[in-house]
Amino acid sequence: MGTSVLSDGHVTDLFQYHDGILHCEGVSAERLVAEYGTPLYVYSENAILERYRAFAGAFAALDPLIAYSVKANGNLAVLRLLAQAGAGADIVSGGELHRTRLAGIPSERTVFSGVGKTITELAAALAANIYAFNVESAGELRMLSELAVTMKTRAPIALRVNPDVETLTPHHYTATGHKQTKFGIPYEDAERLYHEAAQLPGIIVRGVDVHIGSQILDVEPYRLSVTRILELVERLRKSGIDLEFIDVGGGFGISYDGESGPAPSDFAAAIVPLLEHTGMRTIFEPGRYIVGPAGILLTRVLFMKHMGGKTFVITDAGMNDLLRPSHYSSYHRVEPAVRTPGRETVPVDVVGPICESGDFLALDRPIPRVEPGELLAIGATGAYGFSMASTYNARPRPAEVIVAGDAHKLARSRETYDDLVRGEAELLE
Ligand code: LLP
Repeated sequence: MGTSVLSDGHVTDLFQYHDGILHCEGVSAERLVAEYGTPLYVYSENAILERYRAFAGAFAALDPLIAYSVKANGNLAVLRLLAQAGAGADIVSGGELHRTRLAGIPSERTVFSGVGKTITELAAALAANIYAFNVESAGELRMLSELAVTMKTRAPIALRVNPDVETLTPHHYTATGHKQTKFGIPYEDAERLYHEAAQLPGIIVRGVDVHIGSQILDVEPYRLSVTRILELVERLRKSGIDLEFIDVGGGFGISYDGESGPAPSDFAAAIVPLLEHTGMRTIFEPGRYIVGPAGILLTRVLFMKHMGGKTFVITDAGMNDLLRPSHYSSYHRVEPAVRTPGRETVPVDVVGPICESGDFLALDRPIPRVEPGELLAIGATGAYGFSMASTYNARPRPAEVIVAGDAHKLARSRETYDDLVRGEAELLE
């Protein structure tokens, strides 16, 4: 039996050490790296499925649509897996619509969120017959109506209402439920805009949407925002507007450092009683919860350096591969992929090759001493890892693999130098 390391313990931990060697399901990190190189994103298929089922199961009383938030990890293999498990999608761009269509997520299970949809993106989603547009401004609503009229159809919409709820997220960049953000329609304007929407020739009013932030570990903001939204639903009903669905958004937090956070059943205990007798369909848009702990990033140690009283472990993965530590000061566990007995633990900065002081994966982190050539695993990087990766410093983006039991397959090839110059090289005189 191995020891659990990189997951949060809500479901079977599928990243475990066997004889001191980290495995994803039945495949060792060394094996994967030998075949696919580093840096490498590794996803556990069964962890994704178990997490999806744990989430869906917790809210089963509502028989909800789970519209997986594609931005967390839009890899086609991941989307295909979730499509087969019955998930829908929450998309925020034409590119994400394209991905979901390729992966076979049905359009009737797709909702389109986002504050800045272009007319081209709206037209593509209208043509695809998606379930709902989560509209975030009066301007978008009017543009969508006009577009639908010219396309001889009507656009099903929800208004994304900003409930003005303070949410504690680890970084203020990911709190979206309060007034001073760009997100949603102000609560006090929502009723008026619903009445306008109901009159627009290209619009079908279908639901209401709320999303309060990301990596939320407290159930209270959900209870508050759902309560506020249901008050609005009730006022709308009294004034003749009946809504078919309520979309509660995503944001359900995970444990990054192994401390216990709320499970989906805790969120369910807080909000299912509010929702179950409304007669409305419920939608959730989880991203991170489904895929975050189901992925790791494997990186190789290139060099060690001692300077200014500090020890730097320089890895072949940098902020272009995993932006979260640098962008949000976020914490990801760093573990040697092979445990060597007798190594003392020392605090180090784990840094990448990018020419920026902000390029780090962990700061002042006690980890067992490592040597150049050894592998490190960066935990819980299945969400907002690859999806936020860039090619900064002309670094090809990493490969992605997906593991199921003893089987593993490439989910995305490592980018090549030719990929980096596509669209430029052929234009040289
Ligand atoms: N629905 C909407 C409208 C969203 O904006 C988001 C995330 C989600 C659902 C999914 O949230 P989740 O369940 O994954 O927390 N890059 C940041 C997270 C940004 C989240 C943006 N919106 C990070 O790495 O922490």
